[in-house]
Parts: sequence; C-alpha cells; structure tokens
Amino acid sequence: MSTETVTVINNLTGERYELPLRQGTLGPPAVDISSLYQESGLLTYDPGFMSTASCHSSITYIDGEQGILLYRGYPIEQLAAKASFLEVAYLLIYGELPTASELADFEQVIRRHTMLNENLKSFLNGFHYDAHPMAILVGVVGSLSAFYHDSLRINDPRHREISAHRLIAKVPTIAAAAYKHSIGEPIIYPRNDLRYCANLLHMMFATPCEEYRPSLLAERALNLLLILHADHEQNASTSTVRLAASSGANPFACIAAGIASLWGPAHGGANEAVIAMLTEIGRVENIPKYIAKAKDKDDPFRLMGFGHRVYKNYDPRAKILREVCHQVLGELADTNNPLFELAMRLEEIALSDDYFIERRLYPNVDFYSGIIYQALGIPRNMFTVMFAVARTVGWVAHWLEMMSDPNNRIGRPRQIYRGPVKRDYLPISQR
Ligand code: SDX
Repeated sequence: MSTETVTVINNLTGERYELPLRQGTLGPPAVDISSLYQESGLLTYDPGFMSTASCHSSITYIDGEQGILLYRGYPIEQLAAKASFLEVAYLLIYGELPTASELADFEQVIRRHTMLNENLKSFLNGFHYDAHPMAILVGVVGSLSAFYHDSLRINDPRHREISAHRLIAKVPTIAAAAYKHSIGEPIIYPRNDLRYCANLLHMMFATPCEEYRPSLLAERALNLLLILHADHEQNASTSTVRLAASSGANPFACIAAGIASLWGPAHGGANEAVIAMLTEIGRVENIPKYIAKAKDKDDPFRLMGFGHRVYKNYDPRAKILREVCHQVLGELADTNNPLFELAMRLEEIALSDDYFIERRLYPNVDFYSGIIYQALGIPRNMFTVMFAVARTVGWVAHWLEMMSDPNNRIGRPRQIYRGPVKRDYLPISQR
C-alpha cells in the first residue's frame, strides 16, 4: 500500500525530509515524525500535546467538532441508554459487546474479586481520620502489588487479565472503604447478591446496624455516571497510565499513577470544583461577577466544568447528564435543587457570552455530574473517587492494549533546553 507523505523543508539548510502520513479508521491524518530526529537532527515541540498523537488505539474515538464519543465504535448515547457498566467494561477491555453467557461469566469473575486482603484494613486505618478519600485511594491501589503479587508477570496475557479483573473489582471496594474511613464508620464488605453499582452504593451507605437497599433509580443513575466516565482517549490520566506502563511498572502502580493525575482540578477534580464554585456563586444575581472573573486574565478563576481540550462543541456526556439531572432530581431529591437551577442559568449566560463563544467553551462532563452525585447522597470529596472507579476500566483497557503491542517502547519525550551552557565549578571562596 503506497504511503502518502508530507515534505518538511529546513529553510536553514534547504534539506527536505519526506515523512509518512498515517490515517486511522476515523479522525485526522497524522504525520509520522518518529524518524525525524534521526534523519534531520530536528525535534518537534508540542507542550500539552495539542497536535500530537501518542499511540495507535482502537478503544475510544472523540470528534471534538461534532461532539461525538464512541466506545469501540458504539455511540455513547446508545450505551448510556441501554448497557450496564460491566457490559461496557467488557466492551472496552475485550473489544466486543458480550453475549449473555460472556457477560454472566464476566460478572461472576468480577464478583469473586471484590473482597480485599484483610490486612489492607489495618493499612486503611492508618490514614489520618480526615484524609481526602482520593489520598486513600491512590495509596491503597498503589499498595495492591504488595498483596496480589501472584499475577504480576506483565508479559503473561493471563496474568494481565487477572490483574485487570482484580482492579475493576477491587477499586469500588477500596473507594467505599475510603469513604467509610473518612466518616469514621466501619468498612462494609461487598455482597455477591448485588449488581456492581448497587454493591458500591451498599458498601458506601450500609452500616452494620441496618440493611441498606439502594433504590433502582439510584443504581441506574450511578450506572449511567460510570458508563459516561469510563474512557476518553488519551486524556491526562490515561496518558499517565500509559507512560508509567511503558517502563514495565506493575498494573497496580500504573493505575495508582492514573488516579494521582485524575485528582487535579483541571481534570477529574473538576466535578468537586464545580460544586464548590456553584456554592460560592450562591445566587443567580452573582453570576455576572463570576463570568467577569472567568474572563479576567489577571484572575486565576476559571469556570469549572467548562471547556475541553478536544470538545469544541457540547460534550455529549454533559448533554446526557443535563437531561438526567431533571429526572434524578425529580425522583431522588427536591426538584428545585438550587445548585441545578443555578448551573442551568450559568450555562445559559456563559453560552451567550462572546468570550465563551469565541473560545468554544461548552459545559463538559464535570459540569452536571456533581449535582447528580449529590442527589445520590455522595459527598463532594467522593466525586473524583467515583470518576476514578469508572475510569479504572478505561485505564485498564489502555494498559492491556499497550501491553499486548509488540512495538510498545518506553515513553521518553525530549525537550528544548533553555538552561545555562557548560560552565566550570567555582570554589565557594570565589562565588
Ligand atoms: C476532564 O481530556 C479529557 O478528555 C478530560 C476528560 C476526560 O473524560 O478524561 O474529559 C475529563 O478533565 C474534563 C475537563 C474538566 N476541567 C475543567 O472543567 C476545568 C476548567 N476547564 C479548563 O481548565 C480548560 O478548559 C481545560 C483544562 C479543560 C482545557 O484546557 P486547554 O485545552 O489547555 O485550553 P486553554 O487552557 O488553552 O484555554 C483556551 C482559552 C484560554 O483563553 P485565552 O488564553 O485563549 O484568552 O480558553 C480559556 C483560557 O483562559 N478557558 C477558560 C476556561 N477554559 C479555557 N476560561 C474560563 N473558564 C474556563 N473553564
């Protein structure tokens, strides 16, 4: 197959380089620069990787202009409306929707891995009483290789699959345990008679004193939230997982690295920041003041839950969540939830403001998710933890994809050095 190329001309030397063009099944073509430095001595510069594809992947596709999100080719709107989270997890990991028996087997495997090594409880209890649940999650997940070292031969596909199952099964148990620790309640064990989302709600809200049965609506709302947050191409945390994995680090360490990256307010921490922002704005009358702050270059304030590196249109996940907000609030909480009313007014005002229109800043997945989490009784400091529970599936899918790639190499970007040129050491008496 003939390979299309682009020509790079170094106007300093007049040298020309033919670089191959790579085209996926969807999305823009990419100039393959992997041989550029070797051939020309030239580096490329792209901080934030605005124009850089880091890998091939078949898992998720985003069209930022059209506001399209596909998991293994299936539109997020269809999966959100019809699938269970574990069905989507199977799809992301294995590449195809499961048959009924494949799904039943997968659910059973995950169910049998939900418990934690009992010694992890003493580790958990060592955290400060008011530790942020994300701090506990990143620490405990990173420690899992100390407990489950019987399946860490990362070049063995079966070991990779067992670690993948363990992560998908145990992260919700750890997440719920982190929450219980932060409120001083005993850890609640998972139950094998509950579905994945119901089990997570059970582990969060049950107590030894009384039975807790999550409502079907709460289970469905959580199922939707986890599906929408499951994967999203090469976002910051997924790229972190891939870079950690490229050195051959064990999967638990790689996922812990992803959790750490997700925690940032520019990424997965935004859902918690959105509620803090809406609470600070307080009333519709205050919105213009905060819109002005968001536009003021001298003010670090940003409209949390707005903007996206890839979506220059409405984030399809935000669109789905906005519609579900009405239903969930109507049935789970008071419909005139002041934060939801405020969020909709803020969105309306921002989307009519030239600053946001010119920069194509739309609500993203984090803008409405916190309102639904709150309606489910989930506290603000657990929002990013819930994001991490969902994104563990995406991180694991990308980890499996890259670990099965024979061309997988350690990631090691270059730099433009702007420090001092070579100079000699001066004895302290001469400084
Ligand atoms: C997630 O990558 C993913 O896929 C992430 C994610 C996933 O599923 O993994 O989708 C999840 O992280 C969603 C994003 C959540 N973060 C937030 O809501 C935080 C607020 N948003 C921003 O910080 C920002 O929009 C980012 C980080 C999301 C995107 O940043 P970019 O692409 O680097 O854009 P930028 O910072 O260069 O902004 C471009 C312009 C700038 O103005 P100018 O310098 O051109 O004048 O837009 C402005 C920015 O100041 N801008 C904002 C803004 N976001 C961008 N101004 C006010 N409020 C905002 N929210």
